Amino acid sequence: MRRPGRTQRVAEAFLAVARRDFLPARQQPYADDDRPLEIGHHVTNSQPSTVRDMLELLDARPGHRVLDVGSGSGWTTGLLAHLVGPDGEVRGVERIPALVVAARASLGDRYPQASVHEARRGVLGIPEGAPYDRVLVSAAATELPTALVDQLAVGGVLVAPVAGEMLRVTRTEDEPRIERFGHYVFVPLIRD
Ligand SMILES: C[S@@+](CC[C@H](N)C(=O)[O-])C[C@H]1O[C@@H](n2cnc3c(N)ncnc32)[C@H](O)[C@@H]1O
Repeated sequence: MRRPGRTQRVAEAFLAVARRDFLPARQQPYADDDRPLEIGHHVTNSQPSTVRDMLELLDARPGHRVLDVGSGSGWTTGLLAHLVGPDGEVRGVERIPALVVAARASLGDRYPQASVHEARRGVLGIPEGAPYDRVLVSAAATELPTALVDQLAVGGVLVAPVAGEMLRVTRTEDEPRIERFGHYVFVPLIRD
């Protein structure tokens, strides 16, 4: 099975953006545990090694525009904001309003390039902000979410767990190119 590599850039993002700062107080003592942590509302802050794998596959670069689907605690939004830097932009989108509020509070004013938005019913992602260079999906889809692939620029990359497998999807002028990177467990991507 192919495994993502390890880069200094992603390691530095993990040092710069502490998971602890995005957890409810009751979970902060467990921030260094490599396991998902529940953050209320039946959802989790993802397992750090899984987030690391996904960020390595995504390869968000300085200046990129990134969509973070299922921003939850806001941790991935913060990590992505660090990776794209002040010339980039990250839009987080989350379906649970209380988590949108919590993520905004956790991000504070540290990352002017990052924002968190409440998902609109029946709409995946933020199509009006497209095209994005990168799309990260932190919830499991049962099939490839083509509505999100459509929000990529040509040459752009989406990383998402689909039917239990981590996919890296590159948009091309023709059919998207799909690569597979092993099995991961996530809360479901809700379409309502
Ligand atoms: C694993 S959790 C959060 C991980 C998050 N990136 C973090 O760092 O904490 C996945 C999130 O996806 C959200 N979600 C599920 N379906 C969604 C959808 N269609 N649009 C936006 N968010 C969604 C859930 O509410 C949940 O907060």
